[in-house]
Amino acid sequence: MKAAIIHGAGAAPRYGDFADPEPADGESEVRMLAAGIHPVVRSLAAGAHYGSEGAYPLVPGVDGVAMDAAGTARYVGWIRVPWGTLAERAASRMGLPVPDGADPIVVAGAMNPGLSSWLPLVARTREVPALGTVLIVGATGVAGRIAVQNARALGADRVIGLGRDRARLAEVAALGATPVALDEGADAVARSLDGVAPTLILDYVWGAAAETVWDALAVRGLGDDDADIVHVQIGTSGRARAALPGALLRSRNLVVRGAGAGSTPVAEIMAQLPAFMARIAAGEVTAPVRAFGLSQVADAWAYTGPDRAVVVPD
Ligand SMILES: NC(=O)c1ccc[n+]([C@@H]2O[C@H](COP(=O)([O-])OP(=O)(O)OC[C@H]3O[C@@H](n4cnc5c(N)ncnc54)[C@H](OP(=O)(O)O)[C@@H]3O)[C@@H](O)[C@H]2O)c1
Repeated sequence: MKAAIIHGAGAAPRYGDFADPEPADGESEVRMLAAGIHPVVRSLAAGAHYGSEGAYPLVPGVDGVAMDAAGTARYVGWIRVPWGTLAERAASRMGLPVPDGADPIVVAGAMNPGLSSWLPLVARTREVPALGTVLIVGATGVAGRIAVQNARALGADRVIGLGRDRARLAEVAALGATPVALDEGADAVARSLDGVAPTLILDYVWGAAAETVWDALAVRGLGDDDADIVHVQIGTSGRARAALPGALLRSRNLVVRGAGAGSTPVAEIMAQLPAFMARIAAGEVTAPVRAFGLSQVADAWAYTGPDRAVVVPD
């Protein structure tokens, strides 16, 4: 079959012929309709992700929309290496019907970034009486812009979106968040909070950006903290590490945890997939996507613009 093929760590994919998928027990062969080039796809392909297996050649791609043998469009994922979804076909263990009316390209582009906020937001709504303020670090990214919409939909009365890119911060504002430029530092973040702690911080950047937020949350005094803050580590677009001041953890009611493959139970992900896909089908989520033919996968891989590159078999 035709596929995007990565021949070694750090290499860009080449369009070519790859072995047909060999469905194992519990897997079915599907015909791919669309698959997104998410950051995790790039970092798995580069051997840089904690889930990388380091074997090449491989077909990149973790999820997408595909047609099954009965003609039903399904959201698929969990593809066994060396195969992936940037190909004409795949063998998938999981396949959730895509609701009528949903554009396969939008579903393929939006599920991975969108679920990254939907899951921790839904989890947090079960822990607090009201979401109140949600702070998004990296709100200008694809995942961040969808996170603004998800937070609003799940009842946050205030969303603060931190980012670098000024043009995209304007877009973040149009989606319903208070934009804060990261280069304005901790004082600007503190001003935007206006004395009200967030119940939830969704962090796509980590590194200096997370440290800026922690500086903004610093308080003085020995009294009880009436805040209830959960900082969820979702991505490390900025840096792999961040220095968390010990005094902040001692002085504030702050929990730091992660969300991703490994820390979020698969059962929880499966339970929430239909709800988020229904939002896409209903047109309730604006997801920036840009389609490329599979034979143009090198261009799709090189694309660094504001949309999610989605590859469609030609
Ligand atoms: N754990 C999970 O389940 C999960 C799921 C989806 C995504 N993620 C991760 O979340 C992150 C964002 O995903 P995405 O789909 O939104 O990717 P994206 O569209 O490429 O966005 C990347 C974001 O990171 C920001 N950024 C990059 N380098 C930065 C730096 N040095 N300082 C400050 N900001 C920086 C970008 O800001 P500018 O716009 O200013 O460039 C942008 O907001 C990625 O690391 C991805 O792997 C994790």
